[in-house]
Amino acid sequence: MDYTTYRTDGQGGLRRVQTAAAPLPSDGVRVAVRAVGVNFRDVYVIRGNRYRAPAVDQVPMTDAAGVVVEVGSEVTRFKVGDRVCSTVLPNWIDGPLSAHGMARSTAVLAEYFDAGENDVVAAPPHLSDIEAATLPVAALTAWHAVAELGVVGAGDTVVVQTTGGVAVFAMQFAQALGARVIVVSRSRDKLERTGAWAAINTETTPEWDQQVLALTGGHGARLVLDMGLDDSLRRSARAAAYEGTVAIIGVVQQQTNPLDIYTVMNKNLNVRGVETGSRAMFERMNRFMAEHGLRPHIDSVHDDVDAALDRIASSPYGKVVLNPRC
Ligand SMILES: NC(=O)c1ccc[n+]([C@@H]2O[C@H](COP(=O)([O-])OP(=O)(O)OC[C@H]3O[C@@H](n4cnc5c(N)ncnc54)[C@H](OP(=O)(O)O)[C@@H]3O)[C@@H](O)[C@H]2O)c1
Repeated sequence: MDYTTYRTDGQGGLRRVQTAAAPLPSDGVRVAVRAVGVNFRDVYVIRGNRYRAPAVDQVPMTDAAGVVVEVGSEVTRFKVGDRVCSTVLPNWIDGPLSAHGMARSTAVLAEYFDAGENDVVAAPPHLSDIEAATLPVAALTAWHAVAELGVVGAGDTVVVQTTGGVAVFAMQFAQALGARVIVVSRSRDKLERTGAWAAINTETTPEWDQQVLALTGGHGARLVLDMGLDDSLRRSARAAAYEGTVAIIGVVQQQTNPLDIYTVMNKNLNVRGVETGSRAMFERMNRFMAEHGLRPHIDSVHDDVDAALDRIASSPYGKVVLNPRC
């Protein structure tokens, strides 16, 4: 069988390549891709940015939902016809992150992808393929920060920066846990759509950290999700409560971001990096989403990769998805 894959051309675009299917290993599954979730990272992998050159000859994108069409002779976790999602770090099954967990990633922009049976998770039955394709990176990262760090309870305040893919999931999870969400964004229109407890527009209130303190009676937020905006980390620390957590999630504007060490020290803050998540976290998230009837917020669905990347670059509300017709 031959199938189509897309590979980066190193010039900011993609080449369409016909690939001969390899024999499936005994522990392998072959997945027919039904939808691909597009992430902020995919834009710079394919097109490059001021920090990185475009990737050369790589199959891009990590987030797929699809159906199992073939299984190896020793596979027990899945059968033909099962709906699955890719995992972005397939070596990270459970427990703390390690170099081994980071050592392997997934590539899914293709008609089919082959994976080990341990490298995929069952797609939540209540979600469509388009919805399930949004989960592997954005939802899992938000879930890791909001739920797996274990710092947020009912009545706590959570600050979420931006209204993109990770941010909208973070708001949904925090609200479902009973927390009060304060969303911080430069986009007035998108702020009005969030349904958050409070919204702060950085265009009119650049000192948003002071506004978080004012809204919380001077206490600050139990958790602040930092997206790497201009000077965001200093403000995130100021907006956090004593003994609070600042979760470093993204690099939207700035790769380096000054931190006010005194604030971190004097408030006993926990400043924590958050890398996507393990397969066990993914499975717990899927159960939580099913129990709470949570559905991803889809910004837009595209047939064309360029249109999907352009949409990411133009600041979506929620997730951008590709419905590839390979
Ligand atoms: N740690 C991890 O494992 C992990 C996983 C996924 C993503 N990330 C990172 O997290 C960040 C967000 O990812 P995402 O998937 O949510 O991205 P996204 O869906 O593209 O959303 C990014 C949001 O950032 C804001 N934004 C974009 N450009 C901006 C600019 N120049 N100045 C200010 N705000 C800007 C926009 O929200 P507003 O219009 O509301 O401001 C936009 O909707 C990225 O840096 C991504 O690489 C990290």
